[in-house]
Amino acid sequence: MTEAPPPHKRRVRYAGRNPRRYEEKYKELDPARHADEVQKVMQRGQTPAGMHRPICVPEILGILSPQPGEVGLDATLGFGGHAQELLPHLLPGGRLFAIDVDPLELPRTETRLRGLGFDEGMLTVRRMNFARLAELLPEAGGGFDVVLADLGVSSMQIDNPTRGFSFKVDGPLDLRLDPGSGPSASELLLAITRPALRELLIDNADEPHAVALAAALQGQYLQTTTELAAKVRACVGAVLPRKLPETEAQLEIRKALQRTFQALRIAVNDEFGALEQFLQALPTCLKRGGRVAILSFHSGEDRRVKKAFQTGERSGLYARVADAFIRPSFDEQRANPRSSSAKLRWAVRSDVV
Ligand SMILES: C[S@@+](CC[C@H](N)C(=O)[O-])C[C@H]1O[C@@H](n2cnc3c(N)ncnc32)[C@H](O)[C@@H]1O
Repeated sequence: MTEAPPPHKRRVRYAGRNPRRYEEKYKELDPARHADEVQKVMQRGQTPAGMHRPICVPEILGILSPQPGEVGLDATLGFGGHAQELLPHLLPGGRLFAIDVDPLELPRTETRLRGLGFDEGMLTVRRMNFARLAELLPEAGGGFDVVLADLGVSSMQIDNPTRGFSFKVDGPLDLRLDPGSGPSASELLLAITRPALRELLIDNADEPHAVALAAALQGQYLQTTTELAAKVRACVGAVLPRKLPETEAQLEIRKALQRTFQALRIAVNDEFGALEQFLQALPTCLKRGGRVAILSFHSGEDRRVKKAFQTGERSGLYARVADAFIRPSFDEQRANPRSSSAKLRWAVRSDVV
């Protein structure tokens, strides 16, 4: 019996020269067939849909100095851009463990990396939270020579409207890296108390309008990113001084939107809790002389990384730590504006204690 041909799929149509909506970007979402389109998007300083551009790659390779035969951990695999750069340096003989909490992107990344020739002997992919990195130790031979953590969210997660990470596109108000774990942002707003929401906005995003926003958002049943964005716009618009020029008011509203979404994302994913557990376990998971590099994207993350490294240095667990953070080069920030808030810190495990 002959199989029925697959149903014909109409090409996605869009207005204008370039597709604007995520689902219209079918070429970017199929980079294997449309490599030229992907290049064009990157030349415009944008990140192609369904991809993530790794940040500070030369700086990270310089800091981590991965060597053949060594064992590495990419604690935030994402699209696998950093993993793909690290792996060739660990070969022959070495191995990379690569983990991520995201059950939707992880299989795609694993398939992509396997397609590039990284087999199970060189690359072990696991869905797990980096807070639990010590669980990998028996398999990793007792410790890692190099560890990388590139905190926060990937471009695939931000750009995909169905994940609800961005106030710029309409989607479910979710914000979970693992949609199967814990309450969504929508559920959190419904259940949280007003003082707890105020604290959350201050602790996670230094939100100056936290009092007004907590009053406007707490207990609300908001199902979509657009509904939340409209509430934030109305609330912040109402508390800004009347004399403020329109452009400044719009800028302040935009910043409040970014901070509110960031604060809720950090909360629903317990990002600070996971980072603190990771930083605490790290020295015992690094081999003597092992190197770690961490990319952070806002002050709450960088503060925690800096403090943990300094405490580790004082107690002798780290031999050396970065005395200042490293920024992506000017050229990288221009080519990839999403890199502009990144801060890179490093530490080297003592080979004595
Ligand atoms: C900025 S992206 C990493 C991008 C990656 N370096 C690349 O080159 O494609 C951050 C990734 O970390 C993951 N992530 C965030 N918190 C995590 C955690 N606690 N444990 C494991 N993965 C986490 C996110 O799901 C996301 O895929």
